[in-house]
Amino acid sequence: MDGNGRWAAARGLPRTAGHSEGEENIARLVRVAVRRDIGWLTLFGFSTENWVRPRAEVRHILGLHEKLFGRIAELNDLNVRVQWIGRPFDAADARTPRYVQRAIRKAIADTSANTGMVLTIAFDYGGRRELCDAVERVRQWHLPMTPQSITDHLYLAELPPVDVMVRTSGERRVSNFLLWQSAGAAMRFTEKAWPEFDEHELERALALVT
Ligand code: FPP
Repeated sequence: MDGNGRWAAARGLPRTAGHSEGEENIARLVRVAVRRDIGWLTLFGFSTENWVRPRAEVRHILGLHEKLFGRIAELNDLNVRVQWIGRPFDAADARTPRYVQRAIRKAIADTSANTGMVLTIAFDYGGRRELCDAVERVRQWHLPMTPQSITDHLYLAELPPVDVMVRTSGERRVSNFLLWQSAGAAMRFTEKAWPEFDEHELERALALVT
């Protein structure tokens, strides 16, 4: 979800206003995706590298995660099940504050009976780290090192392979996002900043795979 900062700067607003609009856009896009009958929507909310941003910005983004994971009534109305993918909270170098952990756990529990779209938020997530952790676990259990055993030990083993990966705001590079799961995925790059990513943009991405 690149481009929140640039979206805000172009309007003479602080970067945090761009993130807030980004969070609102998630709520809008989830409604659109549900209407479009999408099974899985996974969003990169915060990476293992994002902690180095200015403290006030990090605090703001964390608050937005608390807000998003708190939209339980809305998500239940839409029959959306929430999931999270990221570095385990008890990892030695994990930094997720308890109030975010609580919001994540509550959203997962309170939407667990929903049978519609699965909305997965990547928080404190890094694709390379996920792969290292999976390999470590396969080793710990003395399992054969195969693509299947690694897949089975990713953070969220139920997450299916990615059909289409979208990157906003003119970024045309692969990021540290779902590296293993996105082998073979179609890629959609758009100039639109994340807050402007709308139904029309989603259709253009889906056109690559439908
Ligand atoms: C990248 O844009 C965006 C982020 C690092 C954070 C994404 C966060 C949100 C969309 C808001 C809240 C998200 C959730 C899941 C509640 P950038 O800050 O790098 O902007 P720039 O590329 O224009 O500098």
